[in-house]
Amino acid sequence: MKNIDSYTHVRGESIYLDDIPLLEGSLFAAVYDSPVAHGKIISIDISAAAQMTGVAGIFTAKDIPGENQIGGIVPDEELLAGEHVHFCGMPIVLVVATSEEIARAAAKKIKVNIEPLAVITDPREAWAKGELIIPPRTFQLGDTANAFTSCEFIFDGRADTNGQEHLYIETQGAYSLPLENGGIRIYSSTQGPTAVQRTAARVLGLSMNKLEVDTTRLGGGFGGKEDQATTWGVLCALATYHLKKPVKFSLHRMEDMRMTGKRHPYSSDFKIGLDKDLKILAYEVTFFQNAGAAADLSPAVMERTLFHCTNSYFVPNVKATAYSCRTHLPPNTAFRGFGGPQGMFVIEAAIAKAAEELNIPASRIQERNLLHSGDEFPYGQIAESEANECWKETDRLYQIDTLRKEIESFNSKNRLLKKGMALMPICFGISFTKTLMNQARSLVHVYTDGTVGISTGAVEMGQGVNTKILQVAAEIFSISPDKIKINPTNTWRIANTSPSAASATADLNGKATEIACREILKRLQAVAKEECIPVAYIGKTEIPPLEVKDEWIFINGKKTDWSWAKLVMAAYTKRVSLSELAHYTPPNIHYDQKKEKGHPFAYHVYGTAIISVTVDCLRGIYETDSVKVVHDFGKSMNTLIDMGQCEGGIVQGIGWMTMEEIVYDKEGKLRSNALSTYKVPDIYSVPKEILVQPLNTAKDNLAIFRSKAVGEPPLMYGIGAYFALRNAVHSFNPLAKIPFDTPMTPEKILMALYSNVNTPVALAD
Ligand code: MOS
Repeated sequence: MKNIDSYTHVRGESIYLDDIPLLEGSLFAAVYDSPVAHGKIISIDISAAAQMTGVAGIFTAKDIPGENQIGGIVPDEELLAGEHVHFCGMPIVLVVATSEEIARAAAKKIKVNIEPLAVITDPREAWAKGELIIPPRTFQLGDTANAFTSCEFIFDGRADTNGQEHLYIETQGAYSLPLENGGIRIYSSTQGPTAVQRTAARVLGLSMNKLEVDTTRLGGGFGGKEDQATTWGVLCALATYHLKKPVKFSLHRMEDMRMTGKRHPYSSDFKIGLDKDLKILAYEVTFFQNAGAAADLSPAVMERTLFHCTNSYFVPNVKATAYSCRTHLPPNTAFRGFGGPQGMFVIEAAIAKAAEELNIPASRIQERNLLHSGDEFPYGQIAESEANECWKETDRLYQIDTLRKEIESFNSKNRLLKKGMALMPICFGISFTKTLMNQARSLVHVYTDGTVGISTGAVEMGQGVNTKILQVAAEIFSISPDKIKINPTNTWRIANTSPSAASATADLNGKATEIACREILKRLQAVAKEECIPVAYIGKTEIPPLEVKDEWIFINGKKTDWSWAKLVMAAYTKRVSLSELAHYTPPNIHYDQKKEKGHPFAYHVYGTAIISVTVDCLRGIYETDSVKVVHDFGKSMNTLIDMGQCEGGIVQGIGWMTMEEIVYDKEGKLRSNALSTYKVPDIYSVPKEILVQPLNTAKDNLAIFRSKAVGEPPLMYGIGAYFALRNAVHSFNPLAKIPFDTPMTPEKILMALYSNVNTPVALAD
């Protein structure tokens, strides 16, 4: 089934924040944000701005009626800077005017005198100074110190990954309006409507029930709107609170890039030990997470880094420690994979280092150590692994050795073009790692004409969750998808929602919808039993089997003259409830943070990719030739949507690993602050070929209709692009010294190609 939004998307009719018709008298917001990364606010002069025609209000931290606090996990982040600024781009003053232009012009006239303080941008420096967001955490399995003594080979090193700009097509924004009795409605481009509601209540000193947050859909989120949409929603609400007027704030691209946090950069140290058969016996890793200036979601992201630090491998002795380091960058936040990719990169780097030192393909070490069912993760959960199945199927379908020989043959014939390939197995846990967040509700109404309206906590951001939820209802009721409508996400209809995140949205909200639909169907079947029994059976105790199928009632397998709509009307006439609010929590998940052991994930998603690249060794530029994948979808309920998620995730992952380079200078100013200086994959840089083969498995799982979560996992295939490029460079210059430092931009490739030698071997003759 096609994404239900495709019809309005291609016509430009889909409603995003900017498509909401504005009420008369609407005002527009802008902010004055800090030009320095760390400093003490000495004075704020708003006089010139206040005198401008059209300026309706100017607000600072002093105008916050409740708590000046937006930190969701740790209360360490002010909405508007009070006494200190902690990052470039931190909002200090909110300006509201009759037009966007006036609001922004007025913000420029504000003068804030800031006494600069020392700026930290490097997480290791922050760590050395004791600047930690939360205490460090360590995951441990077995005994690494002891295991290293019996290793044949031991390698250590450092690995760095940079951040990543979310670059959702729709920038951050919100539109708030006053309701009666002091209530406020906020239309917000958020993945977490409840986060906006809860935080607005806290900042404004209002009860949560006065705040309605409504989200029709987002033009992309990728994690960037899980927590960081809140600021803009609350700023609008603050102005509405004071002015009793509708207020809109829709960020310009450069404001968005400057003021919002990104994927966390990590710097890590690793040590890996193998026996003579290439079995990994021990792995130690220390992660330094660059959290930015406030916690935001960093503690949870850091936790997932630890969960995924051994990726798709079984390592019997593991010690993984993570530090969340406070720097003066915008608070970094969720980004597709949520710390998982950062953790996986480091063990892949450790394996690559071992392979390079031992002069063997990394795939030999990878394959030797894949997780099997029954193996224990460092956090105590026992794997139900598809890692070997995915790898074997990848080999069977795409012929790893043949590909390798083709590449070797190409490289031996070409001096200035070199190909490289890498295998990238993945393993990603599905569920919020905070157990309590794994809950969802669905409100299903059947109207008297037989049509259905569904509200859940799921936020549609292009990932197709609404289509999947609609499929659930269509399947359970056995009615046409045309009869079903998915409503905008709204905190008055569905309360206390978890954000649409962690790849788990379709599972949680889909399962809640399944429960609600089954409940209503049960009532309808009871009505059918009473109402549509053929005359022949009246008075008999044996009632023939009855089924609601394809919008008709079948008795004994025979179609009756009772339609779905007629049955619904009969139920209504008999005063039977046609609505249901269902609640779903996945079973069996738990986690003990004291012991760092438990069963945090409902299940894992597995897969294996082969990525092949070609490097132009004169220029340092490269192309991704192909990405060939076997992916564990469980049993996909919508292959179009799931393939779309795979392709998008792969390209986004390759972008992170190869070209997307975030640059902050030493003063903490973002230099890559526009699309002219921050390169994202375009149509010319996507892989020439992406093949995704579903792993065929009939195994049961906890996913909705056994269709495993697909949002985040495919991104991690992109990690293979870095290692493929590395291999290509090494075939040009075997002595090349290449730090494990992403993104592997053309500049870095060029440096690597000609590193450590006067003349690379390939150019020597
Ligand atoms: Mo997603 S990175 O869990 O919002």
